[in-house]
Amino acid sequence: MTIHRPESFRAVDWKDDALVLLDQRELPRQEIYRSYTDAGEVAAAIRCMVVRGAPAIGIAAAYGYVLAVRAACAAAPTHWRSHLRPQIERLAASRPTAVNLAWALARMDRAAERVDGPPAAALLAEAIAIHEEDVAANRRMGEIGAAYIGSGAVVLTHCNAGALATGGYGTALGVVRAASARGSIAAVYADETRPWLQGARLTAWELARDGIPVTLIADAAAAHLMRTRGVDWVIVGADRIAANGDVANKIGTYQLALAARAHGTRFMVVAPSSTFDAGIAEGPSIPIELRGEEELLDAGGRRLAPAGVSAWNPVFDVTPAGLIDVIVTERGAIERPDVAGMRRVLGA
Ligand code: MRU
Repeated sequence: MTIHRPESFRAVDWKDDALVLLDQRELPRQEIYRSYTDAGEVAAAIRCMVVRGAPAIGIAAAYGYVLAVRAACAAAPTHWRSHLRPQIERLAASRPTAVNLAWALARMDRAAERVDGPPAAALLAEAIAIHEEDVAANRRMGEIGAAYIGSGAVVLTHCNAGALATGGYGTALGVVRAASARGSIAAVYADETRPWLQGARLTAWELARDGIPVTLIADAAAAHLMRTRGVDWVIVGADRIAANGDVANKIGTYQLALAARAHGTRFMVVAPSSTFDAGIAEGPSIPIELRGEEELLDAGGRRLAPAGVSAWNPVFDVTPAGLIDVIVTERGAIERPDVAGMRRVLGA
């Protein structure tokens, strides 16, 4: 089976019976591909951000499920299901906010229940289907989102919601790619996205490779950019979207939405249906990942803050639906999202 993507790199791939991940901690300095044949190591790779971005995490976990099944079959050919659970729970616990992870594992569970006979090939087919459907959803969202972008648009994006964060093409950057192909984009700005610098390292890298000019700004420059140069659209991805349209995404997204509202800048969230969590009524119930304080206290292996200083490092925040102009999904767009609009496009 082939997975069609235009990019010259693959963040997540299945090759020679192994999961292959482009190590995003090393970009843009080096392009290192790491091969995984053990589900526990896949869970560790998700946790330490070799692979990151909600859809890419889900896809990597689906391939990790295949590796777990293979190991369970080797240990207990006739009772493989009973050997599987601890490995799957490790994958599920690797990162808490991106619901695509739980979504992909639940879909793999359903496929595993249907299997009659040796399971590895059927489950690999399911993981590849999850991967291919994500790329197709991104292309569809690119077209739907690009229809909102008028000519000469100035766009600001946050974090990395591109091919690196998905099966390919990207969510927010898929819209940027599609709008750019239509000739609608005058300028793209990217927030550097402290502390992991997904904007500076990853978004800048992948847009530059596509020949889409991008200008980097400090996160703290966003409101000043809107007031002095003008921004038509903020376009971001999502890690989890509640039933009422509240959106969890990379820390800093909420303050961008507040600044956008104050400056007449429109705010677009682009996410596949696998990012929706109908089981969560409102954003404040979404689990927010807290990462280690050293991510803020140090930079590039050097201490920034004086000894004895502590840090608080939530890596996602929640943007209330009322600050969002449109949520773009592969099933359609939801303008001024609320419970009814979300249900209309996505079902219960
Ligand atoms: O911590 P990360 O890099 O996994 O966070 C990624 C984001 O917040 C993205 O905006 C989100 O996952 C959408 S990716 C299409």
